Amino acid sequence: MRSNRLLTRRHALWLGLASLTTVGAIATAKGAYQNKQYQDQKLQALGNRQRNFTVVGKGTLRQRAAAKGLIYGAAGHKEKLSSDSAFATRFAQECGILVPEGELKWAGVRPAPDKFDFTYSDWLVKFTRTHNMLFRGHTLVWYQGLPKWFKETVNRQNAEKFLVEHITTVTKHYAGQMHSWDVVNEAIEPEHKRADGLRKSPWLEFLGPEHIELAFRVAAQADPKAMLVYNDFGLEYDTPKEEARRTAVLKLLERLKSRGTPIHALGIQAHLRGHEARFNPKKIRKFLADVASLGLKILITELDVIDQKLPGDTAVRDRIVASTYEDYLSVVLDERAVIAVLTWGLSDRYTWHSSYIPRSDKAPVRPLPLDSNLKPKLAWNALARAFEGAPKR
Ligand code: XIL
Repeated sequence: MRSNRLLTRRHALWLGLASLTTVGAIATAKGAYQNKQYQDQKLQALGNRQRNFTVVGKGTLRQRAAAKGLIYGAAGHKEKLSSDSAFATRFAQECGILVPEGELKWAGVRPAPDKFDFTYSDWLVKFTRTHNMLFRGHTLVWYQGLPKWFKETVNRQNAEKFLVEHITTVTKHYAGQMHSWDVVNEAIEPEHKRADGLRKSPWLEFLGPEHIELAFRVAAQADPKAMLVYNDFGLEYDTPKEEARRTAVLKLLERLKSRGTPIHALGIQAHLRGHEARFNPKKIRKFLADVASLGLKILITELDVIDQKLPGDTAVRDRIVASTYEDYLSVVLDERAVIAVLTWGLSDRYTWHSSYIPRSDKAPVRPLPLDSNLKPKLAWNALARAFEGAPKR
């Protein structure tokens, strides 16, 4: 009975979304979806007070995810977790996995060309051990998060040495302790007009497209136990740009797999937009199925909901954020290759949106499951309901 009810709810959701998409599609054809009126309709639909976010039973997000064979966790920060005990307690209660927000980027571990410093990331590993949590690494190769010395030091001649040394040293340091690594982050950018869709980064400039395969092979050598992930953003919505991104990512994964590259999963960042109407469940399910058909697992790695363009009223804003979480997760969790969901932060008290995606009315942003007083918001309910409705792995 229960699963029928869930199915009915899920189908109602899909039908609702499909109709929203149809309206969107028609509107797109007429170029009307951009207009304020259509966006307002969507916000109205998602913010409606009738939609309930009731949660059944007890349990933290970590427990609810685990009950379906899923892993839930979040990005954490050594500074905040070591100085804010109330936050650290809630983090340990709700999260079954931690990914460092910055401590394992080049700038976080490599203060000088000939120096590695694992003090902060080691503290985070210890935190995960103390709280029986998994640990994942982010990220070994990215065009951002680079230390100040990088630009004037790394060049075409020495880039391979720096890359191999970095991946080997960092991955070996944590060998056997990692759930997974984001080996390469954000290497795709179709707007850079390359036939292969790759981003014009220093790594591409110095080492060519082969740097991606090289990175995975070196990481696999240094830690044969870690799940090796390619991670990227802008894969969530039915827009021409994001369709191009999904196509380019799939082509990259197919290329890597055809060459026997030791890659095990795709990481989808999923920085969702609360105001975005162009969400097409069918297209997303097809993309996930295509990735899974390559024998890859899928992790939702940096989930949060941008509320920058949502109404100021926090009751309405929270409902739209929660709806966005639940509508997206209820679609992606239907794909059994999806094994983990991490939000990019746990509480509005600490979110990168505050400085990177602030609201024009200067109101505090509200993108995450817990509010700034560490209390669950409707977004928390939305995650709990999505786990509740997910098929068991
Ligand atoms: C962000 C962090 O949250 C910020 O604190 C930092 O200043 C910049 O990077 N995609 C990624 C993450 O892969 O590494 C980024 O994290 C957010 C976007």
